[in-house]
Amino acid sequence: MTNTLLILPGDGIGPEVMAEVTRIIDWFGDKRGLAFDVTEDLVGGAAYDVHGVPLSDATMAKAQEVDAVLLGAVGGPKYDDLDFSVKPERGLLRLRKEMDLYANLRPAQCFDALADFSSLKRDVVSGLDIMIVRELTSGIYFGEPRGIIEEGGQRVGINTQRYTEAEIDRVARSAFELARKRGNKVCSMEKANVMESGILWREVVQRVHDADYPDVELSHMYADAGGMQLCRWPKQFDVIVTDNLFGDLLSDVAAMLTGSLGMLPSASLGAPMENGRPKALYEPVHGSAPDIAGQGKANPCACVLSFAMALRYSFDQGEEATRLEQAVEKVLADGVRTADLMQAEGGTPATTAQMGDAILAALDAS
Ligand code: NAI
Ligand code: MG
Repeated sequence: MTNTLLILPGDGIGPEVMAEVTRIIDWFGDKRGLAFDVTEDLVGGAAYDVHGVPLSDATMAKAQEVDAVLLGAVGGPKYDDLDFSVKPERGLLRLRKEMDLYANLRPAQCFDALADFSSLKRDVVSGLDIMIVRELTSGIYFGEPRGIIEEGGQRVGINTQRYTEAEIDRVARSAFELARKRGNKVCSMEKANVMESGILWREVVQRVHDADYPDVELSHMYADAGGMQLCRWPKQFDVIVTDNLFGDLLSDVAAMLTGSLGMLPSASLGAPMENGRPKALYEPVHGSAPDIAGQGKANPCACVLSFAMALRYSFDQGEEATRLEQAVEKVLADGVRTADLMQAEGGTPATTAQMGDAILAALDAS
């Protein structure tokens, strides 16, 4: 099977961090015989500058065909006054919507060398590797009825939590598939004690499990207790699957277990394509960081680790993904730091390219 990849560097530090990832992709082709058919294209402000829209129809069509899309970041002050319909962020939103990416993957992975950046104690987070799967296209952010109405002489704000069986079923499958490529354990979080949607959620997740994934260990937890457990002993989890609202909160909590924004990758997955691979968009959690753009200061690790996720979840190259993650871990253990990873006392920070050089050297030594 060929491995097709669409690279969309975007704006600000997006192209800077993506340049390092491109070198790493080439390394896997040269040294590991893992060839990628790579196409590069424009998104965000960069696309607006050329096409007058933040994502052209041609780029959208390409994104629908490839095995995985890897995106840098979009946005920046230059585009702040644009009409909402052509803002850079709309390019990203169009990708997510038209590819119907309903499972948002937010790993919380804590390399030992960075454990002191966590808001928790070192032994609670060091070596942590969990994955939160957040349902992204339904739930209370989209449910009808919604709005602010007049009732009994005052205004009432209304949102509706609503999930169909099919919506729960498909995101549960994403979580079980991921678990099989990791620690084979899923914890589903809802509030079945007080919410009807939670009762249905628990029932459908259990049903999908019993029918098609009995080999995966499944547990259920109320989402509030889950938040507590994430802070108390996060290493008890492997994959957590939850709805849009709880996932929004829990993934932000989990992100803070690990420290810097410059280290956090993410993925959004949709339905399986004809070749069995899911539609997939991989991107760092951070934005275009205009305050440091063009200065060679950006940490490329979040984008590099997003590519590692692509290796594991789109291309079935779990061992090569681990090789890349271990290269990043080694570089950090050796003390190589971009500015965002330095404590106040400092030293001279590594540039974006020096961090890339160090990761490539660690790969060579692997
Ligand atoms: P941001 O994530 O771009 O930056 C927040 C802070 O973190 C800044 O101080 C930045 O320098 C630092 N930072 C972020 N990534 C870093 C990295 N890789 N290495 C070192 N430092 C890093 O968020 P902000 O400032 O709120 O937004 C800036 C622009 O990015 C806006 O136009 C926003 O709309 C856009 N944005 C785009 C996203 C995307 O493309 N997915 C996500 C979030 C924001
Ligand atoms: Mg949030």
